[in-house]
Amino acid sequence: MKVKYHGHACFELEAKTGRIIIDPFLCGNPTADVTPVNFSELDAILISHGHSDHFGDAIELAKKTGAVIISTFELASFAEKFGVNVHTMHIGGKYQFPFATIKLTQALHGSGIPKGDGTFHYGGLACGFLIQMEGKWLYHAGDTGLFGDMELIGKHYNLELAMLPIGDNFSMGPEDAIIAAQMLRPKTVIPMHYNTFPVIKQDGQAFIDELQRQVPECRGILLKAGQVLEI
Ligand code: NI
Ligand code: MN
Repeated sequence: MKVKYHGHACFELEAKTGRIIIDPFLCGNPTADVTPVNFSELDAILISHGHSDHFGDAIELAKKTGAVIISTFELASFAEKFGVNVHTMHIGGKYQFPFATIKLTQALHGSGIPKGDGTFHYGGLACGFLIQMEGKWLYHAGDTGLFGDMELIGKHYNLELAMLPIGDNFSMGPEDAIIAAQMLRPKTVIPMHYNTFPVIKQDGQAFIDELQRQVPECRGILLKAGQVLEI
């Protein structure tokens, strides 16, 4: 299957069973390589939390492609008001869709949906995603601080890939992402959620080098927007 990076926390997963996009922050994202115009076929849109750099273009993409929006009960219910297909879930719950099996994990982060005037729609809890496609388990951590139960995920899921934030300030930074990799024990780590804005500037290659030094059994891959990893 193909894992394509679109910058920030946005990944497109393409498998034999279908195509999924996670956290489609495209318009207004200085690092994105695509806009909603580039998408015609999409089965699902996964949203980790209500912040605009994750909710992004979800509604426009759902309207354009007919894809189902999958998120927490609060966030998916909010999206439903725009007349799009949604599937509500919550943390700890797993559901077998035709295109993938998806389980919501905890994420230590907020999920308010900005109204644009400094106030928020209630967004419930932020989440991460465990996704199984073609028999492989992938973990997209969402925006999160380090948490000890990553050890549980690593123990019970044989992760092919973990997409981990390294930007610091709003989420894990590089040091904590390396501890996360030690607990999650994935075959491959892709860093995300960095260099989009000055406040989350990080040296991606330095993270990969340090990951290889501290967790040599885990492969670190740096993707630029538009690049694809075949797993
Ligand atoms: Ni956020
Ligand atoms: Mn974010």
